[in-house]
Amino acid sequence: MSLRFQRAIVVGASSGIGAEIARQLAADGASVALVGRRAAELEAVAGTIRTAGKGTAFVAVHDVTQYDTAPPLFEKLVADLGGLDLIVYAAGNLFVPAESEYDFAKDRAMVEVQVIGAMSWLNLAGAHFEAQRAGTIVGISSIAGERGRRTMPGYTTAKAGLTTWLEALRNRLTRYGVNVVTVKPGFVDTAMTQHLVKKPMMIPAPKAAQLILATARAGGSPSAFIPGQWALVALIVRSIPSFLFRKLDL
Ligand SMILES: NC(=O)c1ccc[n+]([C@@H]2O[C@H](COP(=O)([O-])OP(=O)(O)OC[C@H]3O[C@@H](n4cnc5c(N)ncnc54)[C@H](OP(=O)(O)O)[C@@H]3O)[C@@H](O)[C@H]2O)c1
Repeated sequence: MSLRFQRAIVVGASSGIGAEIARQLAADGASVALVGRRAAELEAVAGTIRTAGKGTAFVAVHDVTQYDTAPPLFEKLVADLGGLDLIVYAAGNLFVPAESEYDFAKDRAMVEVQVIGAMSWLNLAGAHFEAQRAGTIVGISSIAGERGRRTMPGYTTAKAGLTTWLEALRNRLTRYGVNVVTVKPGFVDTAMTQHLVKKPMMIPAPKAAQLILATARAGGSPSAFIPGQWALVALIVRSIPSFLFRKLDL
């Protein structure tokens, strides 16, 4: 049995993976609320959905670090959509520090968007879905969260925090019939990865979106690497002893 999502919120829908997820949900007939800071980019995604002629799109300009504004916006979007089946938290940011750069503001910004922003939106969704005894929450974490990496301390910490928080949310909600899905992509060709030098096994954003939605539609509460080959890489990376791992330029 495959789940069909008819009413969805995508947080971080203005570009990359989130925009592709929104387009593919609408192509399947869903009404989708597109959330992000950049109005023009959100309108462009909504425009492609309207032009395609399937599903509907609402645009909501919102900064996930403006935490007080999330509850009224969540209520409004659920009302506009006529209910909610799915929320995807795709908002993310990546700052890679230079060799001797130690930047608190950038580390904080990554935790604020990827951990606290997710807590803000997904607590709202969790309460809503627990009450209706159904619903699916998808959080986009990363393979990067498997270890603390010297090249991206703030990002790897934010993704590890998100992965752990989603696991706890899953452990609260599955007993109420709510699915909590953690997806951990490897490299995906988006604005976020443009400046990275090494990008092994990179896939296009539409492929990542397709794999993420297939994972969510399959039901249950999986934690899945995107694509699945990264599970083997994660196994190897997790097994490297700390004294060796610190010597690697990962
Ligand atoms: N690309 C990869 O290789 C890769 C791999 C693993 C995981 N991921 C994760 O996948 C997710 C999507 O990233 P992407 O690769 O598609 O990059 P992207 O194109 O840069 O998308 C990032 C999205 O996050 C939104 N966002 C960032 N800060 C926000 C804020 N303060 N408030 C609201 N929205 C905010 C952006 O919208 P606005 O700028 O309009 O606000 C944009 O829609 C991220 O969580 C990323 O960490 C990516």
